[in-house]
Amino acid sequence: MLNSATYPDFRILQGDCMERLKEVEDNSIDAIFADPPYFLSNGGISVQSGKQVCVDKGEWDKGGTPEYIYDFNRRWLELCRPKLKENGTIWISGTHHNIHVVMRCLQELGYKVLNTITWQKTDPPPNLSCKYFNFSTELIIWARKHAQKTHKFNYETMKQLNGGTQMTDVWRIPAVSRWEKEQGKHPTQKPLRLLYRIILACTHEGDTILDPFAGSCTTGIAANLLGRKFIGIDQSEEFLQLGIRRRVEISDPNIAEKFLRKISETPEETMVIVNHARKETRELMIEKGICYMRAGDSEGSLQVTPGFEKMRYVLLHTDGKEAQLFHIKKGKEGSFSIWTKETLEKHGFHPEHAAYYIVIPFDNHPTRPKKLPSNLKQRINTYRARLRPLSDFIGIK
Ligand SMILES: C[S@@+](CC[C@H](N)C(=O)[O-])C[C@H]1O[C@@H](n2cnc3c(N)ncnc32)[C@H](O)[C@@H]1O
Repeated sequence: MLNSATYPDFRILQGDCMERLKEVEDNSIDAIFADPPYFLSNGGISVQSGKQVCVDKGEWDKGGTPEYIYDFNRRWLELCRPKLKENGTIWISGTHHNIHVVMRCLQELGYKVLNTITWQKTDPPPNLSCKYFNFSTELIIWARKHAQKTHKFNYETMKQLNGGTQMTDVWRIPAVSRWEKEQGKHPTQKPLRLLYRIILACTHEGDTILDPFAGSCTTGIAANLLGRKFIGIDQSEEFLQLGIRRRVEISDPNIAEKFLRKISETPEETMVIVNHARKETRELMIEKGICYMRAGDSEGSLQVTPGFEKMRYVLLHTDGKEAQLFHIKKGKEGSFSIWTKETLEKHGFHPEHAAYYIVIPFDNHPTRPKKLPSNLKQRINTYRARLRPLSDFIGIK
């Protein structure tokens, strides 16, 4: 059996969580994410890759009596509470099959419910029976240990991830992607993008996150990618082995960087256009509140890539120095205009390389980004800008 001893920040315990939770030190956990059995494996059908498939997940997910489902959830939730630090929080995912029982247990046990997040899957499989609305959501309850004590919430980070407005309790995130399953499949694997957001919302670097139903250890992978520690429990050796293989996979810094980039790019995330400005033109760009780049390549086509519509910020820099973020002008989000060389000249610029330019207007009050991408100095083409998600710049790792 592979073991996780090489990764001290990735501790796994195999067995029934009702037993193994007792080994976790009291008051040591900053956040818990739990994806318990939903008890929905009762022979239903769905479609995957065009084929009819049974939706049963495994023996561990077979439905029981209402009393059994209540007892099960009450027991593990009771065992988890003392493990949390006084300001700790817990997240539990579910569907109508289990989530109302979970809510009742949380309230009975003295937790304080903070939010119920609706995870709306952007790509749900169709409902074959055509007797119901299609199931496209899961619910995630967020609660804290105590009614009185305050909890951690990285409000500003969430707001920035949401394009500068308060993040709501409806999260549109796609289901697990193929690149997340390179090491094998878990039947109910959660997307890394979902855990990325949860972990960023309620923890800081160095914090510890516990998952009592770890499965393929998605929580642990997201936690370690974000510089947090992980303790995971699962009864299945096979699933935990998959989790360790996933941990080994991200020990390659290139893969870790690639994964972090992918999970920080949620389809609706705010984008930043990164533009190199020559020393001579930078001040004028800031004064006029516009940045520009060449509009055509040698064949004359536009260099507008997918993501432009989500653009909210411009990051201007000169050879990697003096990087400043500017908010794109209100009402013009994601928009740009095409100007001729002559129009730019009328504004005092001296463009040399093309007849047409993409012009992006911004508010000329800069903010200094907390974090900078390492390759800002790359000066491939003065006029060619790159698009990056905002999370790359706001220091949230
Ligand atoms: C819904 S899956 C979690 C999937 C996980 N979030 C992931 O992304 O891979 C639930 C997991 O709980 C495990 N499990 C069920 N009952 C358990 C118990 N009493 N103790 C420990 N693990 C249990 C199952 O083996 C299964 O892997």
